[in-house]
Amino acid sequence: MAMQRNTLKTNERWLRAQKEEREQRAPGVRRLSRAEKAELVMRYQAAHLEDLPDKASVCLDNLKGMRVLEIGGVLYVDRVLAGVQTKLKIALDPVIELWEKASEDCEYIRGTGEYVPLTRDSVDLCWCLNTIDHTAYPLAVLQEIRRVLGSHGHLVISCNVFPIWARPLFPLFNKFDAPHPHHFTESSFIKLILSSGFNIEASFSPQKTKGRNWKTLLGKVFGVRVVEFRCTANTRIDL
Ligand SMILES: C[S@@+](CC[C@H](N)C(=O)[O-])C[C@H]1O[C@@H](n2cnc3c(N)ncnc32)[C@H](O)[C@@H]1O
Repeated sequence: MAMQRNTLKTNERWLRAQKEEREQRAPGVRRLSRAEKAELVMRYQAAHLEDLPDKASVCLDNLKGMRVLEIGGVLYVDRVLAGVQTKLKIALDPVIELWEKASEDCEYIRGTGEYVPLTRDSVDLCWCLNTIDHTAYPLAVLQEIRRVLGSHGHLVISCNVFPIWARPLFPLFNKFDAPHPHHFTESSFIKLILSSGFNIEASFSPQKTKGRNWKTLLGKVFGVRVVEFRCTANTRIDL
């Protein structure tokens, strides 16, 4: 069902982000053994499967007839949904080759969310987790998701957000925080979602950012948290 529609829409700042992304992740990439894949799937399912009906507003049985897409990474389509039957699973990422594949029935596409090589109204459920602030043109990505989802589908989207007091520091973050060409406050993230033709249907409790590396610690100092929303098309906006 993937069609040829892909032209990488980039800019200098995003190319710098991607260079950093590759440098950070590429050295750790290797082929996983069958046991390691099973372990990976188990870990992700234990962490996310229980929440899925609430987050995506769908029970596992209903996924059978659904076409699911993930923009940026492979967490749900390849791992959480491994072994769960769907009509179609697609993961799209500009560095898709750096994501270890754990399941067989998921199509990996190398591309950017600014141009999704799928037809209008061809997806029922889309995840875009911790990715929108990594893209070159966040609004274009959301409009593409809205286009392929049509008027009936759900989008589950999350992003790191900063408190309002940190906003004057965004130009500085943009310089030093290489993988993120964009920084959002919760309200600017919500504004972005609404202006791209979505309604917010549900929001999920902010998760605490995990880990003990210097980036996470710095994130804590700046009050960074993750917000997550389930969205549906605002049918009054025709894209
Ligand atoms: C921090 S990772 C998040 C991955 C995964 N969703 C997760 O939560 O673990 C951000 C991902 O966004 C991808 N990305 C960057 N620019 C993108 C774009 N324009 N379109 C789609 N994905 C993009 C990066 O390559 C990277 O894999």
